[in-house]
Amino acid sequence: MKRIVCKNYDELSRVAATYVARQIWEKPDTVLGLATGGTPIGLYANLAEMHRQNDLDFSKVVTFNLDEYYPIPKENRQSYDFFMWDNLFSHINISKENVHIPDGTAPDAELECAAYDKMLADIGGTDLQVLGIGVNGHIGFNEPADYLEFSTHKTSLTESTIAANARFFATPDEVPRHALTMGLGAIFSAKTILMLISGENKASVVKEMFSDRITPQNPASMLQLHPNVVVILDQAAAKLL
Ligand code: F6R
Repeated sequence: MKRIVCKNYDELSRVAATYVARQIWEKPDTVLGLATGGTPIGLYANLAEMHRQNDLDFSKVVTFNLDEYYPIPKENRQSYDFFMWDNLFSHINISKENVHIPDGTAPDAELECAAYDKMLADIGGTDLQVLGIGVNGHIGFNEPADYLEFSTHKTSLTESTIAANARFFATPDEVPRHALTMGLGAIFSAKTILMLISGENKASVVKEMFSDRITPQNPASMLQLHPNVVVILDQAAAKLL
């Protein structure tokens, strides 16, 4: 895994945006895998700015988000659908039909997940997958476990993830207990994985992720098996490396 250590969050966000923009310039119909959470907000702000200032063109770009809470309606401000439109899609020229986010209102979660995997497989997987990492090492919502799932699936969030995500809700009780998430198969379908990590609270999981132990108890450590991973960290997150 290639590592790029940046001075701080702003630099990390700029470097990540340059990376994504270069991909789109080289292949205008890029299939992008996208993440939500606090970490990619700066990346999305930079991409929106590049669209405004330099005409970075998203008209042919196709996106697949990693995950969505379940159940949750799109209008809910905490939904990942709302997050993506608010932070990125409303500020660029992407077409609505090219945006894919698991449907948090699907009556049958299993069918929704199977359809999501099929759409992604039909398009040939992602060219570039943006990933964050949970403090417990989760990627997407693939939480630490004895085994990890290959397919997109409905999952239960762990207490540590619920606690970490409570910062976006009025009370921890409001955090949904389930999510639909890409499995390892969809994540690994990416030609390139771009992982963004910021903050001292991630330093110990980052150290484990880069250690010689590849374990489903730290799902991010599995990325060592992918041939093309670029990890962009700030100095705080890289502190224990
Ligand atoms: C979000 C996602 C999660 C986050 C992770 C880190 O779509 O799949 O794995 O990337 O929880 O979140 P932040 O960036 O808020 O620390």
